[in-house]
Amino acid sequence: MAALALKQISYKYKKADKDVLKSVSCHFSGGEMAAIIGPSGSGKTTLLSILAGLDEPGAGSIEMDGKDVLGMDRDLWRRREVSVIFQSFQLFPLLTVLENASFPMELNGVPKKEAREQAKRYLELVGIAPEKFKRFPANLSGGEQQRTAIARSLASGAKILLADEPTGNLDSENTKNIISIFSRLAHEMGYCVVVVTHDPKIADLSDAVWQMEDGTLAYHEK
Ligand SMILES: Nc1ncnc2c1ncn2[C@@H]1O[C@H](COP(=O)(O)OP(=O)(O)OP(=O)(O)O)[C@@H](O)[C@H]1O
Ligand SMILES: [Mg+2]
Repeated sequence: MAALALKQISYKYKKADKDVLKSVSCHFSGGEMAAIIGPSGSGKTTLLSILAGLDEPGAGSIEMDGKDVLGMDRDLWRRREVSVIFQSFQLFPLLTVLENASFPMELNGVPKKEAREQAKRYLELVGIAPEKFKRFPANLSGGEQQRTAIARSLASGAKILLADEPTGNLDSENTKNIISIFSRLAHEMGYCVVVVTHDPKIADLSDAVWQMEDGTLAYHEK
């Protein structure tokens, strides 16, 4: 199972006078759902963007299964190994549900027909009914949009799912539903799921909780 380890990661935004991440160390595993909690502005999204390969840290190392991640091709890392799920879903508005979910596979060269068949399976896995496959995202509920976004993430083939406040725009029923999907992906299918959240319920249901505080990260005993 994939294991991701961050060692003494520091990061500073251009023109900023101090580090936003201060020697952050942590580890995440396949089969595990981890929560990152902490106050607004403490550095949670910054940490996720480094894990996602969108930014490079000023210092420190990241290893996946003991292999140096920062030395790898960052475009490949971003496309193949990790996938990000956002609070605001970020679906392609002019593509249907099915096209959204098959897009990453088509981008990776999977023939269209096969990509569509596989996308249907991912959509069914997250509980989107077939009669909604041809809708545009604007015609779905928030919960359905987020489930479609999760299906699209699965279609990328990444085994590391990074979610930034994925339930921030959802009511409690949809929140429960999204969390049970993440939990199933981790516990039954071996995905490594990392969720940034303000929601204590999500932290409660996670296997590990990391607390960010002004750029430092600590393991929070449950
Ligand atoms: N592009 C940027 N340029 C400069 N500073 C930034 C940038 N993005 C974020 N910051 C700063 O870095 C710090 C950490 O921001 P980050 O977005 O990681 O916090 P967060 O923990 O995700 O907060 P929230 O819970 O509000 O989403 C904040 O002080 C923020 O103002
Ligand atoms: Mg944030």
